[in-house]
Amino acid sequence: MEQKSPVELRCALIGHPVAHSRSPLIHRLFAEQFSLPLRYDLLDVEGPAFNAAVQQFFATGGLGLNVTVPHKMAAFALADQTTARAATAGAVNTLREDQGRLVADNTDGAGLVRDLTANHGIELGASRILILGAGGAVRGCLGPILETGPALVRIANRTAARARQLATDFTRLGTVEGCGYDDLETATSPFDLVIHATSAGLTGETPKFNRRCVAASTFCYDMFYARGDTAFLRWCREAGARRLAAGWGMLVEQAAESFEFWHGRRPETGSVIARLLSA
Ligand code: ATR
Repeated sequence: MEQKSPVELRCALIGHPVAHSRSPLIHRLFAEQFSLPLRYDLLDVEGPAFNAAVQQFFATGGLGLNVTVPHKMAAFALADQTTARAATAGAVNTLREDQGRLVADNTDGAGLVRDLTANHGIELGASRILILGAGGAVRGCLGPILETGPALVRIANRTAARARQLATDFTRLGTVEGCGYDDLETATSPFDLVIHATSAGLTGETPKFNRRCVAASTFCYDMFYARGDTAFLRWCREAGARRLAAGWGMLVEQAAESFEFWHGRRPETGSVIARLLSA
């Protein structure tokens, strides 16, 4: 008797650009862990076409969408229902449909926190954290970071007013302050953790700031990733940092959170991170 192939589970990443994305590989490796018949596509969609593309994806039987730049705010606006962490972020990176309603989550912050704590063994509670950048990437992660109970989160940004506004928006969740890079000149003691989240890395640059913010004990984390050190990690190494990591683990951990949101199962991530690092 002819065997029927199992029904394909269709997921995709929607954004612009998306061609460089590792998400298809990551989700294929997750799906293999459970023998799920997953298909994961890349949908290169520019701004005005976003809403129609999402509607068409789900109308034609799609199961789950990841959303990346520039659509994370548009996805938030389009959703019928959001998780608490997506509402806090005001941005969405994961969508699914539930009885005709578009349900949205943001897994970026949870992915970052999980990579820092579970994979790198960083204790965030009571720590002093410096975040560089005040854009959408930071807004998406601040809630989960503040939930871990750090002593202080200082956000430094090229446009200081943007950092101050972001800090004001999140002040109900913990001790968070915004400033410009110049304001860090008065810092006399190093931070426990410095997280880079500006888009300067896209052009191989990095914000320069007071070297006294970084010591050998400071964990320096770049939310972006590259083969070898990023510009930020190179700068930190020269400033004396000895504990450094790029955001490969965050990429995989946020994907694991999305995978669970769609399929109800939690994939193992260590082997997938190792696979990306060795690719
Ligand atoms: P994302 O969603 O990636 O966070 P974004 O919302 O456009 O993108 O924010 C980009 C961030 O990178 C901002 O913090 C931006 O600083 P400004 O708010 O001053 O624009 C920062 N950024 C971009 N290019 C930079 C550069 N060359 N040096 C320092 N910061 C830079």
